[in-house]
Amino acid sequence: MNAYQDIYKNWQNNPYEFWLKAANAIDWSKSPKVALDPESGVYGRWFPDATGNTCYNCIDRHIAAGRGDQAAIIYDSPVTNHKSTYSYNQLFDEVTALATAIQDLGVKRGDRVIIYMPMIPQAAFAMLACARIGAIHSVVFGGFAPKELATRIDDAKPNLILSASCGIEPSRTIAYKPLLDEAIELAAHKPDSCVIFQRPECEATLDKDRDHNWRSVILATKAAGARSDYAELPATDPLYILYTSGTTGEPKGVVRDNGGHMVALQWSMGNIYNTHPGEVYWAASDVGWVVGHSYIVYGPLLQGATTVLFEGKPVGTPDAGTFWRIIEEYKVSTLFTAPTALRAIKKEDPNGVHLERYDISSLKALFLAGERADPDTIQWAEENLKVPVIDNWWQTETGWPIASNPMGIEKLPIKYGSPCLAMPGYEVQVLAEDGSQLGANELGAICIKLPLPPGCLPTLWNKDDRFQDSYLSAFPGYYETADAGFIDEDGYISIMARTDDIINVAGHRLSTGGMEEVLSAHPDVAECAVLGIADRLKGQIPIGFIILKDGTEKSALQVEGECVQLIRQKIGAVAALKMIMRVERLPKTRSGKILRGTIRKIADGADWSMPATIDDPAIFEEISAVLRARKILE
Ligand code: COA
Ligand code: AMP
Repeated sequence: MNAYQDIYKNWQNNPYEFWLKAANAIDWSKSPKVALDPESGVYGRWFPDATGNTCYNCIDRHIAAGRGDQAAIIYDSPVTNHKSTYSYNQLFDEVTALATAIQDLGVKRGDRVIIYMPMIPQAAFAMLACARIGAIHSVVFGGFAPKELATRIDDAKPNLILSASCGIEPSRTIAYKPLLDEAIELAAHKPDSCVIFQRPECEATLDKDRDHNWRSVILATKAAGARSDYAELPATDPLYILYTSGTTGEPKGVVRDNGGHMVALQWSMGNIYNTHPGEVYWAASDVGWVVGHSYIVYGPLLQGATTVLFEGKPVGTPDAGTFWRIIEEYKVSTLFTAPTALRAIKKEDPNGVHLERYDISSLKALFLAGERADPDTIQWAEENLKVPVIDNWWQTETGWPIASNPMGIEKLPIKYGSPCLAMPGYEVQVLAEDGSQLGANELGAICIKLPLPPGCLPTLWNKDDRFQDSYLSAFPGYYETADAGFIDEDGYISIMARTDDIINVAGHRLSTGGMEEVLSAHPDVAECAVLGIADRLKGQIPIGFIILKDGTEKSALQVEGECVQLIRQKIGAVAALKMIMRVERLPKTRSGKILRGTIRKIADGADWSMPATIDDPAIFEEISAVLRARKILE
C-alpha cells in the first residue's frame, strides 16, 4: 500500500500544492497560482485566478500534439445496426460547426442549453459545443417523461434545447419530439429555439418558427466556413448543470465548474482508471447520468484516449455477448459499467459461454459503480473476465470517485463489498447523529471534510441556500453524502444504505418521495407509500402501497393499473414502478410517520422487530398478507 499511502499523505500534508501540481496536466489560458479561495462560494472555489476552456482541452490540444487522426469517439449502436468512428480532427469539425451554429442562434457564455438526446455522437458534440463557447449545458436523460423535463426547463431556463427525433429501446422506438413539445407546453419558461437531429427510424415534425433541422444547420455552417474559436473562461465558470433526484420535490441542479472538473477528471483517468492517451476506454452508461458526463465524454477526451459511445443494452441487443464483442472489436482496455449490467449478463449466460466467441485480451480492468457491487457479481466477473474487478463509489455531486482502488497508482488488496479507500482530496469520516466521529466498523453517516476537492459541486444551480441546507448543515464542516456505512480498521469504506428517500434502480438514482407525490395526485388515492426493495437484477426496485379514498367507484385493480401508468407518464418508464398494492391501512408511528423501513425489511425477508412506537401492530400482518399474495414474500 506504500505508493497509494505516500500519495494520499502527500495530499493531506499539502492539499493545495497537490492540486496545483495536478493542474499542470491541463492546458490553461492562464495557469492557476492559487489552488483554493476559501472565502468565495459556499465552501471555497478552486483555481479562482485561472482561465481556460474544457473543449479546447478535450480536442484542440490533442490535435496540436499529433493525435488528430486518432479515434476520439467510437459509436456502436446494435439497436440501429450502425457504427462510426470520429477522429479528433473530425470531432473538431463537428463540434466547432455546432458551436458556431448555436452561437448564430443567439446562445452566449453563461446561457443554458438543455440537451435531451439518446446515445448518439451528436449528444457528445452538443456538450462539447456548449463547453467551447461557455454556454452551460444540462443533459436530461432520454428516459425521463415530459413533466421531469419541464421541471428542468423551468429551473435552468435554457435559451436553446438540442434534441433528436427519437430514441431507440430494444422493444420500441420512442418519439422524443412529442415529449419535448409537451414539456415545453408544461413549462412556464419557453426556449427561443430547438435544434432537432432527425433520425431515420422516426422523423419529427418541426415547428417552423421555433425548431431547426440539425443537419441543415450544420451543413450551412460548414458551407459558410465559419469555425467558432474557444472562449477563454474563468475556471470557476459553470460547465454544466446535471439534475439529480433529491429528497422529495424538485430535482437538485448539481453545478460543475470548468477548472476543478478538468483537473480532477484528468487526474482520475491516469491514477484511478489507469487509462492513458491512445487507449480505448468504454463507460457503458448513458450521457444523461453523471457516469456518462465524466467517463463517456469528458474524462477520456481530456486524457486523449478513445471513448466508446454504445447505444444498446448488455443483453438483448442482440445477446449477452455484446459487451465482449465491443471489447474485441475496438480493443477496449478499460470497461466501466454498473453492477446491474453484469447481473443481467450473468443471468442470461451464467457460464460465460458467449465469452468463448471473443478475444477480450485487450481488457485490463473492469470498474463498477452506481450502486453497491455485490460480492457474487464481482466474483463472477473476476472468474470469467480474468481481470481485476474494481468497485468505486461516488455520486452525481462529486463527479469522480470518492473511494476506489487506484489502479494507476497500485492495485490494493480487494475486500469484497467495499469500494476500497478514500482517494486524495477526500477525507472521509463516519459520524454519529451528534456529529462525533465513530470508530472502526461502526455504522453511521458517511461525511467528507470540507473543502470538497476539485471537480465536486461548488453549489446547486441558483440555490446556495438549498446546497447549504441539504448537504452542509447536518454536520458543520462536513459534506453529508446521504450514504450510511462504515470504515474498517484498514480504512476500507463500506456503503450500506442511503439515509434519505433515494433508491437505486438498475444504477439509476430515483426518489421514492417523488413517486409518492405522483401517486398522491391520483384522484382516488387517499394515502400512499413507496419504498425500494431488493431485486436480484436491478439491485432495488420500487413497490407502492395505496389506500383508496372512501366511496371510490373504481376497483382496486383499476386504480393500481392507473397508478403504474401515472408514474410512467410523470416520471418515465425508467422508474420501473410496476407493483402497486391496495392496502386498508399503512403502519405508522403514533406520531403518524409511515414505517417504510420496517415494511422494506419484511418485503426483503430480512430480520425485523416490532417498532416500539407503532400505533397498531396488526397492520404488519395485513401488509405481509398482501406481499404474500403478490409473491413478493414467500
Ligand atoms: N429512453 C426511454 N426509455 C428508457 C430509456 C431511455 N433512454 N432507458 C430505459 N428506458 C425504459 C426501458 O425501455 C424500460 O421500459 P419498459 O418498462 O417499458 O420495459 C424502463 O425504462 C426500465 O429500463 P431499464 O432500467 O434499462 O431496464 P430494462 O429492464 O430495460 O434493462 C438492464 C435492465 C439491467 C439491462 C438495464 O437497466 C441496464 O443496462 N442497466 C445498466 C445500468 C446503467 O447503465 N446505469 C447507469 C449508471 S452507471
Ligand atoms: P448517482 O448520483 O446516480 O451516481 O448515485 C449515487 C449513489 O449511488 C450514492 O450516493 C450511493 O448511494 C450509490 N452508489 C454509487 N456507487 C456505489 C458503490 N460503488 N457502492 C455502493 N453504492 C454506490
